[in-house]
Amino acid sequence: MGYLTRFIVFMSLFTGLVSGFALQKLPLLHFDEGYTQLFGDQNLIVHRNGKSVRLTLDERTGSGFVSNDIYLHGFFSSSIKLPADYSAGVVIAFYLSNGDMYEKNHDEIDFEFLGNIRGKEWRIQTNIYGNGSTHLGREERYNLWFDPTEDFHHYSILWSLSHIIFYVDNVPIREVKRTASMGGDFPAKPMSLYATIWDGSKWATNGGKYGVNYKFAPYVAQFTDLILHGCAVDPTEKFPRCEDEAVENIRQASKITESQRNKMESFRQKHMTYSYCYDHMRYKVVLSECIVNPAEAKRLRVYDPVTFGGIPHRHRNGKHRSRSRFAERESESI
Ligand SMILES: *[C@@H]1O[C@H](CO)[C@@H](O)[C@H](O)[C@H]1NC(C)=O
Repeated sequence: MGYLTRFIVFMSLFTGLVSGFALQKLPLLHFDEGYTQLFGDQNLIVHRNGKSVRLTLDERTGSGFVSNDIYLHGFFSSSIKLPADYSAGVVIAFYLSNGDMYEKNHDEIDFEFLGNIRGKEWRIQTNIYGNGSTHLGREERYNLWFDPTEDFHHYSILWSLSHIIFYVDNVPIREVKRTASMGGDFPAKPMSLYATIWDGSKWATNGGKYGVNYKFAPYVAQFTDLILHGCAVDPTEKFPRCEDEAVENIRQASKITESQRNKMESFRQKHMTYSYCYDHMRYKVVLSECIVNPAEAKRLRVYDPVTFGGIPHRHRNGKHRSRSRFAERESESI
């Protein structure tokens, strides 16, 4: 598909999105149309219908895939079912990044699933980086109102010029509004979409206290309902732009309705366990974009202090190198 065709398809689809976030109306992509295997040999299996993917982590390797195109803004979504039972140290990530194109000043928007300890819930983390701001993590962590290993649930990222919104089952759980003071820290360059499973023993579950136990392998994460509705841009363009109308559509879609906002606030009251905005050990001065909510501050200040960096840059064969000084921090908490 040429970029113009893609743009027109994208435009018409986004019009659907604008009115009440009509996720179910968006067509689902075949794996081969939108993605390529990134690593993991036989540990990535595309289901016969071409629309579902199994990513496995075993003793040999994790696995992952990446979008064929790079996108400047858009809506990115998947239904994901996480591995059941003991999964400490297992990391599943669904994220946008341009780390391969920009070593020093990359952007990133992350959904990360950080394993569990038997009998405890999976935790999910969201994070963003802009223009290489890896010294400033903007992590939030949450538990969920359902068991993510029992069934498929939608996890989605909306990225516009001015907003980033994370959704779980179409409920917004986090909104990042671009502020002037964030400067380049707000992701602004085209990114690819990634989904990976890998061994985060040193990192993921309580700061590395609980590693991957391969007695319980293989660990399988299933992905389906893959939605990629971004503004695909030509990678050779130095200053890629989406057409004004597309930008306007994404902007419209990033307006949260009042009832959605109420749901978001309720989610955050009940399920958020960490926010960088309340981590005074880490940030003596609260980052400028934080809007301090006294109720959240009271609840979160002393809870869940383990902090992780963003997606380690390479994680093939279970090995990775991390770009954040927070990533390897050990903790004795919980
Ligand atoms: C991004 O980083 C580069 C170099 O690290 C810098 O030259 C540039 O001004 C930054 N851009 C923004 C928007 O902050």
